[in-house]
Amino acid sequence: MALPGEEESTHELVIAHAQVWNHIYKFILPISLKCAIELNIPDIIKNHGKPMTLAELISALPINKAKSHCVHRIMRVLVHSKFFIKVDTKDENKQNEGYWLTPSSNLLLKDSPLCVAPFLLAVLDPNLMGSCYSISEWLADDHATPFETAYGFMFWEKAKRANSLNELFNEAMACDSRFVSHVMLKDCEKLFEGVESLVDVGGGTGTMAKAIADAFPEMKCTVLDLPHVVSGLEGFGNLNYVGGDMFAEIPTTDVVLLKWILHDWNDKNCIKILKKCKDAILRKERRGKVVIIEIVLGYNEENDTVKEDQLFFDIAIMVDINGKERSEREWEKLFIDAGFSSYKITHALGVRSIIEVYP
Ligand SMILES: C[S@@+](CC[C@H](N)C(=O)[O-])C[C@H]1O[C@@H](n2cnc3c(N)ncnc32)[C@H](O)[C@@H]1O
Repeated sequence: MALPGEEESTHELVIAHAQVWNHIYKFILPISLKCAIELNIPDIIKNHGKPMTLAELISALPINKAKSHCVHRIMRVLVHSKFFIKVDTKDENKQNEGYWLTPSSNLLLKDSPLCVAPFLLAVLDPNLMGSCYSISEWLADDHATPFETAYGFMFWEKAKRANSLNELFNEAMACDSRFVSHVMLKDCEKLFEGVESLVDVGGGTGTMAKAIADAFPEMKCTVLDLPHVVSGLEGFGNLNYVGGDMFAEIPTTDVVLLKWILHDWNDKNCIKILKKCKDAILRKERRGKVVIIEIVLGYNEENDTVKEDQLFFDIAIMVDINGKERSEREWEKLFIDAGFSSYKITHALGVRSIIEVYP
């Protein structure tokens, strides 16, 4: 880079210009992915059973065939970003290259229990994306969130009023819980060893608690969420639902699970929630623990994708609900301020970590 008073070379200038353009047009990546999901492209290729040529893909797509020539351009971007690969098809019709799936597009298959597509569709929903345009305005006004600046309501209020947004959000949360429970139950078998009861606080519609209840049939699992979230949901076997308020009371238990709860709240409210968790695990004669699933900023950051994901998520959570992601030092301060004595962090989930907190 040129020093003050020096002029940049044209080489430096064009590289800098390319970087600016790269940032301007990065939105093409998620938009292309959304298009592929809406056209069902990952499933179409998977169901084909072998690499699919462009002609085969075009004929399987529900599109106006006059626009067929655009398909390879969208696929070119998705091959570049490693969502598909091009492999030799040994096809007699001379088209000897076909598209096939990668580990990332496997996570977009609709019938996969680990499908991430609902999460992508929720994040890219115009209602949620729209609030991103209000960040600078929000920084100058008195609203609580950019979402409120954009729409005049807080996110939760809008979700309560608009059923479609509520469903989109709940499905995004459920798909994330399917993914997290799969990895957690496979890789962290000791986490729930000897645990007789667990309360998933803010557990939504119960996807996470259901997976834990199935894996540990002897464990009594409870989902605590706001009454309107759990109304109409029926427990069965070792799983039950309780409508309530985590700021008021959490049922007595061995383990309180807090997945993606604390990053929604400021420090003062987090301490209130953590104190309620402490009451819940100390009311039994055994001392329990709180299990938190959240980002720990800076963990796993040698992986550039993980580092970017953590930074991006921090902004996303600021835009929608004025939440924040925290570093280990910030987490530790919360635990101490809420009266806990120790914690242990396990990096098992890529972008996020599992934090066990002890009274
Ligand atoms: C970001 S979602 C996380 C859902 C779930 N834990 C997951 O990761 O899929 C936050 C959840 O907290 C619940 N919640 C918000 N305020 C609450 C309160 N005062 N008491 C209980 N649950 C609450 C919301 O209804 C929502 O289900």
